[in-house]
Amino acid sequence: MARVLVVGSGLAGLIAAVRATDAGHRVTLVTKAALSDSNTRYAQGGIAAALFPDDSVDAHILDTLRAGAGLCDPAAVQVLCEEGPARVRDLIRFGVDFDRDESGITRGLEAAHSRSRVLHAGGDATGAAIETALVATVQERANRAHALGGDQISIHEHTMLVDLVVERGRVTGASLLSADGTTHTVTADAVILATGGAGALYTHTTNPAIATGDGVAAAWRAGATVADVEFYQFHPTALAVPGTPLVSEAVRGEGAVLLSSAGDRFMTAIHPDAELAPRDIVARSIAAQMKAQGGAPVLLDATGLGRELLESRFPTITAACRAAGLDWAVEPIPVAPAAHYWMGGVATDIWGRTSLPGLYAVGEVARTGAHGANRLASNSLLEAAVFADRAVRALGEPEQLPPLFENAEADYSCATDLDIDEEIVAERIIVDGGRVDRAALQQLLWEAAGVHRSGADLTRAAATLAGWTAADRGDATVAELETGNLLDLGRLIVAAALAREESRGAHHRADFPQSRAELAQPHFSRRQAWSAR
Ligand code: SIN
Repeated sequence: MARVLVVGSGLAGLIAAVRATDAGHRVTLVTKAALSDSNTRYAQGGIAAALFPDDSVDAHILDTLRAGAGLCDPAAVQVLCEEGPARVRDLIRFGVDFDRDESGITRGLEAAHSRSRVLHAGGDATGAAIETALVATVQERANRAHALGGDQISIHEHTMLVDLVVERGRVTGASLLSADGTTHTVTADAVILATGGAGALYTHTTNPAIATGDGVAAAWRAGATVADVEFYQFHPTALAVPGTPLVSEAVRGEGAVLLSSAGDRFMTAIHPDAELAPRDIVARSIAAQMKAQGGAPVLLDATGLGRELLESRFPTITAACRAAGLDWAVEPIPVAPAAHYWMGGVATDIWGRTSLPGLYAVGEVARTGAHGANRLASNSLLEAAVFADRAVRALGEPEQLPPLFENAEADYSCATDLDIDEEIVAERIIVDGGRVDRAALQQLLWEAAGVHRSGADLTRAAATLAGWTAADRGDATVAELETGNLLDLGRLIVAAALAREESRGAHHRADFPQSRAELAQPHFSRRQAWSAR
């Protein structure tokens, strides 16, 4: 029996906690906000899996590889698509009530899928349905253990990961900050990071404010290998109102179309699949169209779907429109791209193992290689379920460094180490005496490392980021720790985006607009070990 510390309570963390408990391990589950607060909760479209008679694992693999723009790890994609159906059945057993009609479970179509294979629940409230079922499952495990007088699983809400503890090259636990302001250390045989993504890096994001990349930042500081951090996915359609709520791709899957502010349908001239082209292409096309029309959002016209379908199939979006004073059954709604999902993260093998013994990463915090340069819609919940399950199975296996990392050397450095021209350094933006300001960081990343990038903008951003400092972690508040994490990650993303001198998937550079075949490989990077800091 191992002592397992699970950090994060989205789909990946909750599955890891339940599975580890069921496998007889002693589990401590910590989460930064309330148990049910996570990025998972906001997922709309659903979860993709080859579960229907007209579909196949091979077709799902092919679609995933195609969307990934030459950067997927085929072994990870195979595992994802092969084990996906079983993990979806597990979710049903855990109480997720996917939408059905008289012929069985219903399914939606999303961009770059060759067939309809996206299961959804509550119409467009799939993430909320999954989160609710899994929170109930984990709480039931905790109550049962408590009733039997045991402490096989303990749950700590409002507890933030500060840093990982590394002893002689092995992760042996983590330091945590509790809601009452006290810091303490939990010792564990294995730490499973499930802390999600980092949408808070950008001014416009579909993620909740808690998505500050705490796990990737902590793993990086501890010396774990990270990979492909330059690949941040921008969802094409967030409602262009404060809070940027997501407008699911499933809406376009049902037939909604994109219009310029003049009312012209512009995607048909750009890609044969028009509004259902791969997500990166639609996001870039919308950004270009917005630029051409002076920055105004484009319009999503769903009026052809009819009020009844819109309200029953998309109740969450209907409510978001209503809250913004819009009626999407009668008028097109304003939409714009927003940061949505991080393909890069802590590098893992197909068992969730990282380059540091004792450290596992599952869900969005991880870079498994399943998404490559551009994630296929609705593969993220699936990846979280598949790899969380595998990481727990790997706990019982003899430990060895995943072969993937044996020869991985840092191939780009943190932006603080870049050799930047003096003139550019002189132009950098200094705020608040050099102390990083979160809103300024978000704006900088949005402009320099967003949908469109260029070497010149990235270099200026690197110079500015190098001049900013974070609060001392020793006595920092939660907000200060988060902003420090965002600064570390912003530097990493900018450095990686500068190092990738091509355009591929979600990473698009005006100065290198084409993909370069010789660069069709992941970027691995490792910081010097913690003790050298
Ligand atoms: C959506 O509903 O469009 C989001 C699905 C996803 O990001 O996979």
